[in-house]
Amino acid sequence: MPEAGHFDYQGRWLQQHSAFFEWFEIFMIEEEEARGPIHRIIEIGTGAGGLAKYLGNTWTGKAIHTFDLQAPSVPIGLSNVTQHIGDCDGTTNDALCELLLPSDKRCLVLCDGGNKLAELSRYAPHLKVGVDVIAAHDCVDPEAGDFDWAWREFTLEQVPYRTTLGTRIERIAAGVLRQIAWVGYIRQADVMV
Ligand SMILES: C[S@@+](CC[C@H](N)C(=O)[O-])C[C@H]1O[C@@H](n2cnc3c(N)ncnc32)[C@H](O)[C@@H]1O
Repeated sequence: MPEAGHFDYQGRWLQQHSAFFEWFEIFMIEEEEARGPIHRIIEIGTGAGGLAKYLGNTWTGKAIHTFDLQAPSVPIGLSNVTQHIGDCDGTTNDALCELLLPSDKRCLVLCDGGNKLAELSRYAPHLKVGVDVIAAHDCVDPEAGDFDWAWREFTLEQVPYRTTLGTRIERIAAGVLRQIAWVGYIRQADVMV
């Protein structure tokens, strides 16, 4: 069963399930085996910086980019973590979209800001088709009767299959990400109707 939604990580709040490290590592290994290496991890919602610090410490070969309206009180202080100040919800964040552009940089976008479902919809159209991954936090699968997550913000039923601009998304790593109240997608080729 899920436990606390935040814990201390190297002196900072890390606002995730207590089993986050275990399941995220399984996700990364399986996802990279399935579709190739991920070069950039982009986090929306730095918070106190606990997750960004974990990502930078653990996934040392990757570039970590974290966005928030404001900087954490103490800088993250890792050479592979870049902190960005900016709004990722009210407007589409150009700096974030530029990170997704290079064809040789596979990206993982972690939506954990002020409105995760809106962030998923907003940035999915900017993913490289069949390559980049987008995941959002605080999602509960209504079919998962064993999973009770106190901080749920949306259910799978609310995720639009077809987002704006005709973007289609396909769910991935369902069993793994569900364990930590995340849901993940890759973008499929657009079908204009
Ligand atoms: C749940 S906390 C992030 C927790 C962090 N990802 C972690 O796992 O430790 C949400 C953060 O999103 C930020 N946020 C809210 N609205 C935002 C927006 N429009 N753009 C960027 N960040 C936003 C808040 O300032 C807050 O720090």
